[in-house]
Amino acid sequence: MKKGLTLFAAILTLFGCNSQKKSEANEETKTRKCLVIYYSQTGATQQVAREFARLLEADTLRIDAAQPYNGTYDETIERCRQEMANNELPELAAQEINLDGYDVVFLGYPIWFGTYAPPVATLVKSINFAGKKIVPFCTFGSGGLASSMADLEAALPDAEILPGYGVRNARITKAPAEVERFLKEHGFIEGEYEKLPEFSAQEPVTDAEVAIFNAACGDYKYPLGTPVTFGKRMTSAGTEYRFTAQSKNADGNDVEAVIYVIVGNGPDEKPEFTEVVR
Ligand SMILES: Cc1cc2nc3c(=O)[nH]c(=O)nc-3n(C[C@H](O)[C@H](O)[C@H](O)COP(=O)(O)O)c2cc1C
Repeated sequence: MKKGLTLFAAILTLFGCNSQKKSEANEETKTRKCLVIYYSQTGATQQVAREFARLLEADTLRIDAAQPYNGTYDETIERCRQEMANNELPELAAQEINLDGYDVVFLGYPIWFGTYAPPVATLVKSINFAGKKIVPFCTFGSGGLASSMADLEAALPDAEILPGYGVRNARITKAPAEVERFLKEHGFIEGEYEKLPEFSAQEPVTDAEVAIFNAACGDYKYPLGTPVTFGKRMTSAGTEYRFTAQSKNADGNDVEAVIYVIVGNGPDEKPEFTEVVR
């Protein structure tokens, strides 16, 4: 990098998002200003939002419902069920939400009922995201990044939905390292990162993989099905498995899910699932 550009980059970094990126085509330096905007009921998504904001040096905005979802888990489920039955979305608490001047919006949410939580649904409906690049990030009990991204793409056809990041709330301590890697991989911050290999081709599980699947998924509050095939890859963190698993849905039909499991390298690490993709 030329000396002049280095100084320019430093000024931009202080300005907000780590906002300089060289275009591969013409070596021009682009400026990008980032906003981290998120909803979090119980604090998991907030932890992840803070990592994004810290690493990007980005402005941050936390949204909430005018009538906050502050009941227990069961009360929240019940309130959502009623709102969904009535086709209602919650009003947002009054605050200025102005996306002018931001090129990239990091949009964070917990997964509720397979997609972004209702306050984010209200945000998406009421704020103009046209022309923005959006990086979704979420926390979840078992999964929902892919389905929530598809919902965002449908809800915001005039925005560009970029690859997103999701983490199980049970693995939230892994988020800081994963967020850093994610931001490097996608060019938002500079630095070396581990390039992950592809998973091997899927093959039928043997007793050994069934034991790993059961150790990772057996004590989850919902049954995650019976493993059928697996692929795997080695990373510096451990061995990652990509299982396909079969179960019955509420109508009694066979459904297949993809379930990712990691067996960490540490001596005390037990297998844990990282995401269920339905
Ligand atoms: C009403 C409600 C619905 C939920 N639905 C899902 C779901 O469909 N899939 C899932 O994996 N987790 C689900 N969860 C779990 C949350 O996504 C998870 O606890 C999340 O990390 C909470 O984030 P927060 O602490 O930022 O609020 C749900 C939680 C609530 C309260």
